[in-house]
Amino acid sequence: MDRILSGIKPTGSLTLGNYIGALRHFRDFQDKGEVFIFIADLHALTLPIEPETLRGNSRDIAAFYLASGLDPERTTIFLQSAVPQHAELNAILQNFLYMGELRRMTQFKDKSQKMRDSAIGLGLFAYPSLMASDIVLYDATIVPVGEDQTQHVELARDLVGRFNSRYGEILTMPRAEVTRVGKRIMSLSDPTKKMSKSDPKGDIFLKDDPVSIRKKIMSAKTDSGSEVRFDPVEKPGISNLLTIYSALSDITIEEAEKRFEGSRYGDFKKAVADIVLETLVPFQERYRQILSSGEYLEVLHKGAERASREAEKVLSRVQHAVGLLDE
Ligand code: TYM
Repeated sequence: MDRILSGIKPTGSLTLGNYIGALRHFRDFQDKGEVFIFIADLHALTLPIEPETLRGNSRDIAAFYLASGLDPERTTIFLQSAVPQHAELNAILQNFLYMGELRRMTQFKDKSQKMRDSAIGLGLFAYPSLMASDIVLYDATIVPVGEDQTQHVELARDLVGRFNSRYGEILTMPRAEVTRVGKRIMSLSDPTKKMSKSDPKGDIFLKDDPVSIRKKIMSAKTDSGSEVRFDPVEKPGISNLLTIYSALSDITIEEAEKRFEGSRYGDFKKAVADIVLETLVPFQERYRQILSSGEYLEVLHKGAERASREAEKVLSRVQHAVGLLDE
């Protein structure tokens, strides 16, 4: 049976990109195997963040997980920091990753680009080591992520290969699974850039009110010409909106193109706004209800207990394999 694991980092308000590329798929895996979904709060510390912001973001993600249809009876939902084995395993596995490969990570290059060496935290550099530990700690076979995280999963695979060739078949080989449509949702104001939590311009946040969501979509940057056609090079704006529309209506890009053949940009954008609101309005309603009821607290508590029991099995296996005394 497959083990499925994924997480979201509470660094900012979640975006439509997080939803389309990752969050909305987690639920579907509940029928395919054993699912572990966590809030990557230790990862959120790799860049400066206010304590209250971090706490608030973590609560939000817990509520979003439940609002998305994750069933705590079937899925283990937990906070990374509540399961100390993540950090313990990382202390061992970080010795099997090398400076050169960490330096090549696109995310590290993006985030550290404008920083002086003296301002780059060690945690930001070592980020993929903790992420690899998250994955192997649960013997995960499938890691559903958006495209921007696949490089980290590849590195985790390298680490597993390296570790196992030294110590035998100890770690389970994971693989990334990216969605067919929407693995990289772009910014609405600059469709050549990824939509991300840290870039409020051109983002749709899952918490945005319906009026501003519609306004953002109606004023999304489009391209010259008037045809609604999928062409990410010539028409990045329209292609991004087509991707959003297709993903949320569960049809292929080709079908969406056909549906809007001959439509004007304005009418097309209105249809995109309609489908986004149709999806997000009931989702937000459930989220608010869950947050105010506080039911996520019990879920996180039980989740951490269960996660910790599972994690301990792999951690012990690794500790024993590398020669730490365990009698
Ligand atoms: P994070 O928090 O940046 O993003 C959460 C998920 O959303 C996806 N995503 C997108 N998908 C499509 N279009 C976009 N514009 C977009 N932006 C983000 C991400 O690919 C991700 O799947 N390092 C991870 C968190 C993490 C993790 C893990 C994930 C820590 N440990 C172990 C999987 C397994 C991160 O920062 O995701």
